[in-house]
Amino acid sequence: MKISVVGLGYLGAVHAACMARLGHDVVGVDVDPAKVEALAAGRSPFFEPGLDELLAEVAATGRLTVSTRIEDVAGAEVHFLCVGTPQRADGFAADLAFVDAAVDSLVPHVGTGAVVVGKSTVPVGTASRLADRVAAARPGAVLAWNPEFLREGLAVKDTLHPDRLVYGVPDGAAGESAVSVLDEVYASPLAEGVPRIVTDYPTAELVKVAANSFLATKISFINAMAELCEVAGGDVTRLADAIGHDVRIGRRFLNAGLGFGGGCLPKDIRAFMARADELGAGEAVAFLGEVDAINTRRRARMVELAVEVLGGSVDGAEITVLGAAFKPDSDDVRDSPALAVAARLSEMGAVVTVHDPQAIDNARVKAPDLRYEHDLEAALAGADAVLVLTEWRQYKELDAERAGSLVAQRTVLDGRNALDRSVWQAAGWQYRALGRR
Ligand code: UDX
Repeated sequence: MKISVVGLGYLGAVHAACMARLGHDVVGVDVDPAKVEALAAGRSPFFEPGLDELLAEVAATGRLTVSTRIEDVAGAEVHFLCVGTPQRADGFAADLAFVDAAVDSLVPHVGTGAVVVGKSTVPVGTASRLADRVAAARPGAVLAWNPEFLREGLAVKDTLHPDRLVYGVPDGAAGESAVSVLDEVYASPLAEGVPRIVTDYPTAELVKVAANSFLATKISFINAMAELCEVAGGDVTRLADAIGHDVRIGRRFLNAGLGFGGGCLPKDIRAFMARADELGAGEAVAFLGEVDAINTRRRARMVELAVEVLGGSVDGAEITVLGAAFKPDSDDVRDSPALAVAARLSEMGAVVTVHDPQAIDNARVKAPDLRYEHDLEAALAGADAVLVLTEWRQYKELDAERAGSLVAQRTVLDGRNALDRSVWQAAGWQYRALGRR
């Protein structure tokens, strides 16, 4: 099929490459020339495992082209909208400026009978508003809403082999034709048996925010238990193992620590609260305010712990922060708990050195005043305390003895419950973690 992808960020670049991998002819469009240049040269504009290899593979087929000119989408049978919906500067609601601008620029080039497919995470009600706009500009074109559930770090796998496909479509013949077009787009995952749920626009939009709200709630639940463990003298990692054996609960996404960040979970739960309020149903998701509050309290607790182990003040202390990305296998620092803690400690007078295997360039833009070190051993040298705030493999595999020979004081704060406590203690480290004695 001939497909266009509008927006080539973390979602769109992966989607475009994966659609080409599935055998479609794809044109990707973005207003940012830097992204387009990188992709045109076969390079990913950000760090995502497997994406460079996939780009090289599809480049050889000639099935993926990229452009900054929206008119290049003309002739596509399917147009995917993959632009960002960040939090608005003036509150919790989602900023739909990029979605609206993308639709405005796209519709003049949409053919009669083409399907415009929204993938961005939007407040419920957006699809029906945009459907009217598409129909008014191009009679015969249809809008479908097909939310994306990919995880950064696993984005290629999640796109090629999703857990499920959700199509939000209008009633009647237009909806049926959108379903058959999407079935053709996703013929390969469907043939693998990936479940497909066909529903209306509001349900499709809500599926996405409901899933992210559930995941955020699960993380904040275990972090609330961590708070209890801290005051009662328990161990949240053992507690999670124990409750996780109940298959109704499950152990996945029950890792206590510094909490969630990134470009999705935090802003999606806030946008959901804002939208529910507008609809007069704010009470239904008021608990997400607590989920958010528990999450940010973990950052404050980590700062407190650093103050405590450094004898009551971090002023002048040399602190090494391992991790700047919001999670491992990503260079994304949007709403990163690790970077927030590093910045706070620096404001409090600590001399903070940040290491990250991939995210230093992005972190430097967000927090230019911190010291950054690309070499892990150099980052550890002379530290009064080491804070592990993103659970990169490199940190989990650190040799506690060797690391101990580099630092000034063997004090480690494990913000992700990622290290083997007994090994670090045996190497003479003072080991502290969130939610554990
Ligand atoms: C999330 C959703 O998982 C994905 O389905 C959606 O499409 C986009 O948002 P992502 O933002 O890539 O994906 O990250 P995810 O793996 O969900 O992790 C989110 C945050 O939660 C990270 O900061 C991570 O460190 C944290 N987390 C995750 C925990 O603190 N504990 C856990 O047990 C799991």
